[in-house]
This record gives sequence, C-alpha cells and structure tokens, in this order.
Amino acid sequence: MLFKTLILLAGTAAVGHAAPSPQGPSADGIPRDVLTQIPSWGPNPTNLQLHLYAPSTLTGKPSIILALHGCFGTGPGHAAMTQGFQTLSSSRNFVVLYPSSINDNNCWDVASLSSLTRDGGGDSTGLATIVRWASTTFNADPKRVFITGSSSGCMMSNVMASAYPDLFSAVSCYSGVPAGCLAGSPGSSPISADQTCANGGIRKTGEEWAAVVKAMAPLPEGKGKGKGKGREWKYPKVQTWHGDNDFFVNYFHNFEEQLKQWGTIHEVEFTRNETSVPVPGYTKMVYGDGTKLVGYSASGVGHVVPQHEVVDLEWFGI
Ligand SMILES: *[C@@H]1O[C@H](CO)[C@@H](O)[C@H](O)[C@H]1NC(C)=O
Repeated sequence: MLFKTLILLAGTAAVGHAAPSPQGPSADGIPRDVLTQIPSWGPNPTNLQLHLYAPSTLTGKPSIILALHGCFGTGPGHAAMTQGFQTLSSSRNFVVLYPSSINDNNCWDVASLSSLTRDGGGDSTGLATIVRWASTTFNADPKRVFITGSSSGCMMSNVMASAYPDLFSAVSCYSGVPAGCLAGSPGSSPISADQTCANGGIRKTGEEWAAVVKAMAPLPEGKGKGKGKGREWKYPKVQTWHGDNDFFVNYFHNFEEQLKQWGTIHEVEFTRNETSVPVPGYTKMVYGDGTKLVGYSASGVGHVVPQHEVVDLEWFGI
C-alpha cells in the first residue's frame, strides 16, 4: 500500500501537480486517532484550552472543523456528543478542533465589544488564532475550514462567521441566537447575561441584523481599490438548527432572527419547506436555491438538538 502510494506520488510529482502526501502519524508531534490536548498554539488572550482529533490517514490538504461546546461544557465533553465527526474524519479527511472556554460558566463570550470585534482580543480572536495555527500545522485547505457549535457554541459560530468571514466557508449551528444579539450584555451565560436575547426579546430588521454582522469586521483591502470593488467580505454559507420545544433559548424569535440576518447577508428569501428532512419531525427551510442558507426546525425537540454530523458534512461539501 505504502509502495503504491509512493509510486503514485512520484508519478503525480513528475507532471507537476501538487502531490497528495500521507502526512505520517505525527510529523507535527501530535498523536493521531486519539483526542489530544494541545498545550500551546500562540497568543491566547482569554485562556482558551484546546483538544483536537486528527486521523492517522490524513492526506494532502485536509479540511478543518471547529466544533464549539455550549455553556457549562468542555471540548472533550463536546467531542463525546459529536462522536460522528471523529468516526468520519478518516474517510472525509479532516481534523476536528474542540476548544474549551473556561470563563463565564464555560460560555463563549458573545457579548463584549472585544469579542464582537475582529482582532479585538476576545474569545473570537483566540479562536481565530487556533484555526490559523491548525491550518498551518495540518497544511489545511483554506477553502475547507468550517465551524459548528451548540447553544453558546452556535451563538459563537455566528459571531466567528461575522468577525472572521475569511476563515470559514460554512457554518452549521444548533440552538443559538443571531450574531450580536447579546451585544452589551454583562455576560454570555445563563447566570451572567441579560436574558432579553435568549428570551426572544431582541428583534431587528434583516438590514439591521446585517449591519451588526458587518460592524464586526472592517472591509478587507481588495483589488480594484478606489472603485469599491473586491472590498466586500464573502460570508460563509449558514445552516442553523433549532428545536421548537426549546424554552432555554427562545425558538421562534432567535431562529427567525438568525434566518433574517443571514438571509439579508446572502440576499436570499424563504423559498420552500421540505418536511421530514433529514429525519421525521424535522422541517428543512430552504432559502433561495438552498446553497447559502438553510434552517432546520425540529418539532418537539428541546434545547439540545442532537448533532447531525452527516448532514453537516454534506453542507460543508466534504
Ligand atoms: C415552514 O416550516 C416552519 C417550521 O415548521 C413553519 O414555522 C413555517 O410556517 C413553514 N412555512 C410554510 C410556508 O409552510
């Protein structure tokens, strides 16, 4: 097998293509096929922790998935709740990152100006640093870096997509709120936060929500300077899940406000419902042609919507 691979590599290299290469068990010193704690990766302004899972079969330019736990959670705990990612990481060639917040009841900071600002020095900056470190370490495909999260992790996924749209190609998030919904709250946890957002009390127009997204990251330096061209971010496509029996993070308004937010960013409107997708009791809400924005409404499901890893990977395109 190894011999064949080497032959293949030699052949590929001879015609000048980027050769996919097995990365070896730990050229980078990181153990494979096991959840591993990483002691350091660079600047870490908010004392995040990091575990990751990398399969021993990684080849070429793998994908990266950043998976964020909910409040009171941890990276390893979330890994146990999203086991499908580890199982599928080998055949789909990706590394999954499981950071932990150890502040504010282990919630992600989705409230302070520093976290709601690109490179503002908050949790979002720390997570961006983790993603960049992992992309370099594993020689990842920059077009195949994705984010997912549950509850507080979904709230943070929406923040990361807003503050670092250049880092992520797609979002799949579960039981969260729109990006910036907790702006100005004294904290981000059920204990520390202003509950108005979680209770569904923050409502804005699509344009207002889009402005909140855009305020988190200044426009990039682009080509066609001076003509206003190439100066818009390309935002990741968004898929968001919510259970209609969620009495913790108000279903109706937070789900709807998120769909309004990303619908405006992606300039798509509700097109149709597909019932019993991906499983009975769930409704897939398609926006536009379904390539930029999708909602999954889970009937009778509470705050914890189980992670649908296979659907997530399909959305990510890996
Ligand atoms: C689509 O499904 C959602 C969730 O079940 C529901 O709230 C909404 O009314 C449906 N829309 C249409 C047009 O049927």
